Amino acid sequence: IGRKIIHFDSIDSTNIKAKQLAAEGAKEGTVVIAEEQTMGRGRLGRGWVSPKGKGIWMSIILRPNIDPIDASKVTQIGAAAVWSALSKVGVDAYIKWPNDIVLNGKKVCGILTEMSAELNRINYLVIGIGVNVNINSQEIPKEINNIATSIKAEVGHDVDRKFITAEILNNFERFYNELIKYGSIKTSIEICRKASILLGREIKIITNKGERRAKAIDITEQGELLIEENGKIEKLISGEISVRGI
Ligand code: BTN
Repeated sequence: IGRKIIHFDSIDSTNIKAKQLAAEGAKEGTVVIAEEQTMGRGRLGRGWVSPKGKGIWMSIILRPNIDPIDASKVTQIGAAAVWSALSKVGVDAYIKWPNDIVLNGKKVCGILTEMSAELNRINYLVIGIGVNVNINSQEIPKEINNIATSIKAEVGHDVDRKFITAEILNNFERFYNELIKYGSIKTSIEICRKASILLGREIKIITNKGERRAKAIDITEQGELLIEENGKIEKLISGEISVRGI
């Protein structure tokens, strides 16, 4: 991972670029990084504010030989890799399953995994990671400053973007190799469990079918969230999860 890094000063979206390169045959492990994104993309068709030099905006191209159904495992790997990198620089964050990192209750990192697959084969997978590193608190748009933050806004000083980027990629490689070699994401799941902001709490689950409440119990070895609702245990594989009280 990251043996080849393609760096842009400014780009629409590293995910768009990575998908284009992947479709043209770019090798597994190729990383696209930009200083600024003019059209950063979030989940559910949302945007992602990506100011110049203030964050880590990057996408990793992967070609895992796994069932497309298991693609979300790579998102768990990404969350674990980012959390571990932040913890190494003394930033005490939480993971909000399935793909957010939160700091003091606000989102500091988002992950957007996109896939091109046929029936039971993945052609390529792009995992886009956005970390708000040195954005000043005044620079965070008002519409989102109650739900979004940056490391700098919380810890009060600049942090080393390059060091965190390298840590994320090193961790990612380690956790991803476990998936490729042994078909397991055990190490990542242990981190996702220990750092989870959801486990043991009443959560609100918002899907396109509406909202409901349940208790988050565990994260499985496959990366699903186990919830309990009226004494019944259920597995969630995706969906927008929001925690009550945040
Ligand atoms: C989300 O939480 O909604 C996911 C946000 C993902 C943002 C990153 S920044 C790098 C990559 N390129 C994009 O356009 N999006 C992802």
